[in-house]
Amino acid sequence: MSSIKKVVVAGGGVLGSQIAFQAAYCGFDVTIWLRSESSIGRTQPKLDKLKTTYFDAIEGMKAAKSPVDPNWCRGIAEFDAFDAEECKAKAEAAYSNLKLELDLAKAVGDADLVIESMAEVQEEKTAFFTKLAPLMPEKTLLVTNSSSLLPSSFTKVTGRPGKYLALHFANSIWKQNIAEVMAQAETAQESFDAVMDFAQEIRMIPLPVNKEKAGYLLNSLLIPFLFSGLDLVANGVSDPESVDKAWKLGTGAPRGPFEIFDVVGLTTAYNIVEKYQKVPGIINPLLKKMMLPYNFKAQKALLKKYIDAGKLGRASGEGFYKY
Ligand SMILES: NC(=O)c1ccc[n+]([C@@H]2O[C@H](COP(=O)([O-])OP(=O)(O)OC[C@H]3O[C@@H](n4cnc5c(N)ncnc54)[C@H](O)[C@@H]3O)[C@@H](O)[C@H]2O)c1
Repeated sequence: MSSIKKVVVAGGGVLGSQIAFQAAYCGFDVTIWLRSESSIGRTQPKLDKLKTTYFDAIEGMKAAKSPVDPNWCRGIAEFDAFDAEECKAKAEAAYSNLKLELDLAKAVGDADLVIESMAEVQEEKTAFFTKLAPLMPEKTLLVTNSSSLLPSSFTKVTGRPGKYLALHFANSIWKQNIAEVMAQAETAQESFDAVMDFAQEIRMIPLPVNKEKAGYLLNSLLIPFLFSGLDLVANGVSDPESVDKAWKLGTGAPRGPFEIFDVVGLTTAYNIVEKYQKVPGIINPLLKKMMLPYNFKAQKALLKKYIDAGKLGRASGEGFYKY
């Protein structure tokens, strides 16, 4: 068990609000640090919405026949010990106990763990860590939820290399409850273990990433996979249905790359191609050699054709497939 009790989440955006809510749901003393009054105006509605989302999810879980049922939210409860009223009481308590704070020194003054979940902008994160470093007590562990910036790019300015690492969540953490725990070269084993324990205590399934790797585990697999599918179609090698069938029938996987694109949404997919083709090290060196002839321009053009036609994916009724 970790000795973490007081948690501060820096940033109350999509992920910051989810992480804070989930930690509070699991009984931690949680403060969200925000930089301005206007940030409060943007974060509070996210927390209101999360409360409703948890309540709806708990209702939906009543109909689940097994822990692999799509309605089951592993972040909310164990299948064998599910008590809907108890879960609702925990969600209600999370909502009322969460604190919002604008004063950084006050927020982190007694923190056991600070989770940085601010916008993915290197300079802004650097400025934040620099400001934060002298304000934290010695005991504080510091993690970043950054998806594409390596934790080592900030180690120097954290002022606590041994107590600093990455804790990376997936969106919709009450449901997609994986947490990738990634060390940088100077992270102490003790800190790594404490963060692994904490992830479990907030009902995540902790996945150890023992050394730094852009894309952690999931995106190191998923991004090259999606790029590969897209490239086959963008270069006229085949069509979305056939690529998906090849993958699903050949491996037994539930979805092919184009079905995944439709779920994620094609605008997000476009942004992923735009962003990840530039992330150094996302693709491992062996794969990189195979992917050198990849035509990212054609990949983006293909997505743009669908986007411009309003075919944005499952949510809009049509993407690569009709729903
Ligand atoms: N959205 C996802 O699916 C997802 C998944 C995993 C990890 N992440 C990571 O989580 C982090 C946050 O992503 P998000 O999707 O929640 O972003 P978001 O844009 O929804 O939220 C960003 C938050 O950071 C705050 N912020 C921005 N600049 C700031 C500054 N200079 N000082 C203080 N606060 C500042 C904003 O006010 C906002 O509350 C990123 O590092 C991202 O890579 C996102």
